[in-house]
Amino acid sequence: MPPSSRKPPPPPSSRRDDRAPVIVLGIESSCDETAAAVVRDRRVISSIVASQHDLHAEYGGVVPEIASRAHAERLVPIIDRALAEAKMTPRDIEGVAVTNRPGLIGALLVGVAGAKGLAWSLGVPLVGVDHLHAHLFAALLDADHADPSTLFPALGLVVSGGHTDLYRMESSIELERIGATIDDAAGEAFDKAAAMLGLGHPGGPQIETLAQSGNDRAHDFPISRLAKDSLDFSFSGVKTSLLYAIRGHPGPGGVFERDHTSLTDTQKSDLAASFQRAIAAALVLKVRRALDATDPVRSIIIGGGVIANTRIRAEVQAVGAERGIPVLMPPMRHCVDNAAMIAGLGEELIARGVRDDLSLAAAPTSRTGSR
Ligand code: KG4
Ligand code: ZN
Repeated sequence: MPPSSRKPPPPPSSRRDDRAPVIVLGIESSCDETAAAVVRDRRVISSIVASQHDLHAEYGGVVPEIASRAHAERLVPIIDRALAEAKMTPRDIEGVAVTNRPGLIGALLVGVAGAKGLAWSLGVPLVGVDHLHAHLFAALLDADHADPSTLFPALGLVVSGGHTDLYRMESSIELERIGATIDDAAGEAFDKAAAMLGLGHPGGPQIETLAQSGNDRAHDFPISRLAKDSLDFSFSGVKTSLLYAIRGHPGPGGVFERDHTSLTDTQKSDLAASFQRAIAAALVLKVRRALDATDPVRSIIIGGGVIANTRIRAEVQAVGAERGIPVLMPPMRHCVDNAAMIAGLGEELIARGVRDDLSLAAAPTSRTGSR
């Protein structure tokens, strides 16, 4: 497929009035949530999310083929519901935005094909959106900032199931990745930790609940720093330490001494709380390091499923207070995957003249720079 032809985005505007609001339908199908939403002028008019967690539960993780099939079955009804909730018909839509990267390729293709068909049949602009950039945009939706341009340049932090990335943001549509995980993502570490403790998938919310009654100093799990000036993350060490704390060390033949069934509830809570502390500490360590190492920023913008975690939200908020800059974060419902963030970033791109054509391709990886 030929690369899609795009007009480059014009230089960022310093006045928000320079952009004309557009009614945009957003579509999200990169992993195990099928979602559609309508956004206008950075306000969420409707947002519908159909989670597939029940379909994947028995496998302990997302099964790509099951995800693609479920997206194909659900996409049109979910779009219909998003339009109905917005009290709109397809003719009211002035642009279509769709996650085209990163994600499971078969899952992405369902959304991209649906978005192309809709944009083509309605004769409205189509734009492909990077899911990770959209996680950051979620913090700007329904916000009270009369002029969001005053927040930039910003430091961005995305913490999700598949990614842990730091960005330098010149605007909401001009981003450069300055740090990334070298192994597991933080959300993936939460999910694996939950599996080790005998909890279900996704594990992050369950670890958070368990941690509430635990002693976060019961275990001294490692907080990865990497090289002195590194802005990258690593979560495999803390995960392995948790494994050994739960199961003991492997003997001959790789057989562990015990498993989670021999733990008391208190022991489980202490492990969850200590694990959560180590993950939060690793995240804020790199946020502080990035603030020290890069040119000054006016705000910290965070997003992604793991940002639904109350402790992590509070710790990043504390860094902002310490440095005297605001921390913008989405409400919990817009941290985990949703289409409002896709429609929001899509509206910003469309309003600034960015377009894709019908050769828009899906891609499994994110962009390290803008667009
Ligand atoms: O952003 P997201 O919905 O999907 C991806 O783009 O990956 O993130 C999902 C991840 C999962 O790993 C889930 O366990 C984690 O976010 N998560 C949490 C919490 N809620 C969701 N992790 C920690 N604490 C939470 N409250
Ligand atoms: Zn996500």
